[in-house]
Amino acid sequence: MAEIKKLDRAELKANAQSFIEEYRKLKEIGFINQTGDFFPSVHYPPITMYQPITQEELFQSYRIPDDGLFDIYAHIPFCAGRCLFCHYPVQLGPGQDSEKDRYLDALEKEMDIYMGVLGLDQIKARSILVGGGTPTYLTPAQLRRFLDYFVKRIDLSKVTQFNYDVDPNTLLGPEGEERLRIMRDYGVDRLTIGVQALNDRTLGYMNRHHSVREALDSIEASKKFGYKLNIEFIFGYPGQTIDSWIDDIEMAMTLDVDEIQMYRLKVEAYGDYQGPVKNIIEKNTLRVLGDEETLMMKRIAIDMLKENGFTENIRRVFSRTKKDFSHYAWNQCCMLYDELGFGLTAFSSLRDRFGLNTQSFEEYYALIEAGKLPLNRGLVRSEEQQERWGIILPLKNSYVQKKLYRERTGESVDSVFTEKMARLKEHGLVVEDGQRISPTPLGAFFADEIVQQFHSPDYIPFAREEYKEGPLNPYLP
Ligand SMILES: C[S@@+](CC[C@H](N)C(=O)[O-])C[C@H]1O[C@@H](n2cnc3c(N)ncnc32)[C@H](O)[C@@H]1O
Ligand code: SF4
Repeated sequence: MAEIKKLDRAELKANAQSFIEEYRKLKEIGFINQTGDFFPSVHYPPITMYQPITQEELFQSYRIPDDGLFDIYAHIPFCAGRCLFCHYPVQLGPGQDSEKDRYLDALEKEMDIYMGVLGLDQIKARSILVGGGTPTYLTPAQLRRFLDYFVKRIDLSKVTQFNYDVDPNTLLGPEGEERLRIMRDYGVDRLTIGVQALNDRTLGYMNRHHSVREALDSIEASKKFGYKLNIEFIFGYPGQTIDSWIDDIEMAMTLDVDEIQMYRLKVEAYGDYQGPVKNIIEKNTLRVLGDEETLMMKRIAIDMLKENGFTENIRRVFSRTKKDFSHYAWNQCCMLYDELGFGLTAFSSLRDRFGLNTQSFEEYYALIEAGKLPLNRGLVRSEEQQERWGIILPLKNSYVQKKLYRERTGESVDSVFTEKMARLKEHGLVVEDGQRISPTPLGAFFADEIVQQFHSPDYIPFAREEYKEGPLNPYLP
């Protein structure tokens, strides 16, 4: 157990309360929408806003990167039960082994179809992320089978990180140990564990299918196999309190994990499936937190983590050292490298285009059966969209590298969106030097809102009337 520096709670709350004054001012100048709702910027244009596209249109005149490397994502959409905050289309419950086999067959075929489209016999990977769903909610035999065919198609010789996103329960007991061993044997070296909360009452409100004890046991079990560990939390969930959240972060810091990641609860769906949390909030059966209380939680956690020596290497993930971060996220969102995604809901993020797979199991199976990629939406970005994308992804996640921006867009970042940049600087939200444009600490806190300044009016997540008409209204040119 790591020693931690405990901070005075009254002081933490008072600092967070005064920070809320800043937040209110930012709402007054139109920077943040008045309802206080938020929209996480994950891609540009936003993932939910793509039009249908065919495989032929998406890959027309696509060129493999010069070094032949890709970051790779694979998605396994099965889980033990439905967590109430979750908006992912997944198949639930035990007894679906034959359905999982069917899915694994399809995923294998999809990889072959994709390699055919790219004209490759094997795909050279730079980093790998396997997510879900719960990609470890497979029997050990299925997990081995998946990894076996996966690594036959993916060349791992240049991989710098191989991450699995897992749920604590699947790492427990003899089966859990077997899974941990199998993943390690195939080269997995980092686990992202969905802990969500370290409070049994909160876990119950979320309908998580594990207890705090089980989450802690899963961390210990993973450590024995030498994995790097990132643990994930949600804040702003109904029924949580500022004090229960402080307890969670204090305990998280004692756990000797490498990274702590936190997500603000997203109530509205960001894909096609709306999770149950909206209904819970509407029914008001649990105490619902407002935007200010939720942001106080975020402020407090950041203050606690920074005081304890954690750094935010990539947005909303706090690491003990500068060398621990998700390579997959860094490569895709900060370096703007090409990423290929396989599986239901997976996306491929390429230098000048984006393809999104279907969210329907039946459509997924039918397209693959027909020898097609299971794509149903996407876009080849225009020059203007490319110029926005090249700022939005890196500024949200770290900083814009001027040289890289020129390579990816053909433009100098100093010559685009100059008025917007000047306004953000004037309000203390971004800073610039010869090499980079970076958010200030205040800007980093509101990274989603900063980058929404660079969305075209068609893709700003909230309507114009939801923002005040101030100097940072995102609809201003
Ligand atoms: C892709 S999810 C799946 C993780 C894994 N299946 C698990 O449950 O542990 C990755 C993370 O996103 C976060 N997340 C999922 N739904 C969310 C929501 N509605 N709002 C905020 N964060 C969410 C959770 O912390 C979750 O661990
Ligand atoms: S949060 Fe994870 S375990 Fe829960 S339903 Fe969603 S994908 Fe499954």
